[in-house]
Amino acid sequence: MPLNRRQLIGSLAIASLNALVPQFVRAQDALLTKKIPSSGEALPIVGLGSWITFNVGDDPVARDSSAEVMQAFFDAGGRMIDSSPMYGSAQEVIGYCLRKTGNAANVFATDKVWIANGDEGPDQIERSRTLWGVDRFDLLQVHNLVAWEAHLDTLNAMKDEGKLRYVGITTSHGRRHNELERIMRKHDLDFVQLTYNIADREVESRLLPLAQEKGIAVIANRPFRRKELIYRFEEEKLPEWADEIGAASWAQFLLKFVISHPAITCAVPATTRVDHVRENLETARAALPGEKMRQRMVAYIREL
Ligand SMILES: NC(=O)c1ccc[n+]([C@@H]2O[C@H](COP(=O)([O-])OP(=O)(O)OC[C@H]3O[C@@H](n4cnc5c(N)ncnc54)[C@H](OP(=O)(O)O)[C@@H]3O)[C@@H](O)[C@H]2O)c1
Repeated sequence: MPLNRRQLIGSLAIASLNALVPQFVRAQDALLTKKIPSSGEALPIVGLGSWITFNVGDDPVARDSSAEVMQAFFDAGGRMIDSSPMYGSAQEVIGYCLRKTGNAANVFATDKVWIANGDEGPDQIERSRTLWGVDRFDLLQVHNLVAWEAHLDTLNAMKDEGKLRYVGITTSHGRRHNELERIMRKHDLDFVQLTYNIADREVESRLLPLAQEKGIAVIANRPFRRKELIYRFEEEKLPEWADEIGAASWAQFLLKFVISHPAITCAVPATTRVDHVRENLETARAALPGEKMRQRMVAYIREL
């Protein structure tokens, strides 16, 4: 029976929708997540750093460009944004971007306390919270172990009172690992943050196994060693087997390595670019390399 006009329009609409389905499904593919051991909550394995990249002051053009990066991050399914009072105007700019893009309810707000006098921790945290414009932080970390005993007391008390969801501590550049290890052994922590990338792998020997043993989530900072690794490899050819691990660029190759370590919960690459934030989050859509492939990745890098 011939279709009437309404049926014809309806079937054309369905046909054009069907043509869009593969793309639609792809855009909606959920990011891979890992569980925070202390709660079981699932977190996308790629987040967003903010050191330098979001420290753009009050320049309106730069702020709006940061808001575009943030919007692209949330559009791709990202959740964790990491900052610190140490990062200049970054917290204020994050607050501006969250308001502008309407994403305060989506963010897994991750910040730090960084002040030598433990008594001043609560005021600094409250200032940070106001700058972000969130009701409470999801995760607060003692930045670089500064006054960590006093700040851990503050953060644990906030968590007990329901003013904070998770407590953590950070280090970077391979600094003070022995002290971090002692703290991890002695104290109940939800998260640690440390530097891990294909060129900085010392944490594989003790800290990452310890985090797994104690059920502590791990955030990897400096996944590109602040772009140094991208510069180092960008002239080199990606291995032919890179597509087997879903890596179409060096950035994706490097990030895949970081997030595929079983102890790493989430990496927080920083960027000023929308295309880069998309590229980074794309690494969390395909399967991750297993141990054998990870060793192959390391061996390949060594030969370059
Ligand atoms: N102690 C601590 O707690 C601590 C210490 C260090 C870092 N962190 C946290 O970790 C975050 C990440 O570390 P980081 O900022 O030092 O370095 P990073 O994330 O290793 O590198 C950032 C650089 O990589 C470039 N980049 C990002 N994505 C790219 C892509 N797809 N292709 C090419 N280049 C790309 C960015 O340049 P473009 O702008 O051109 O994309 C940026 O210059 C920090 O922002 C901070 O939140 C914490």
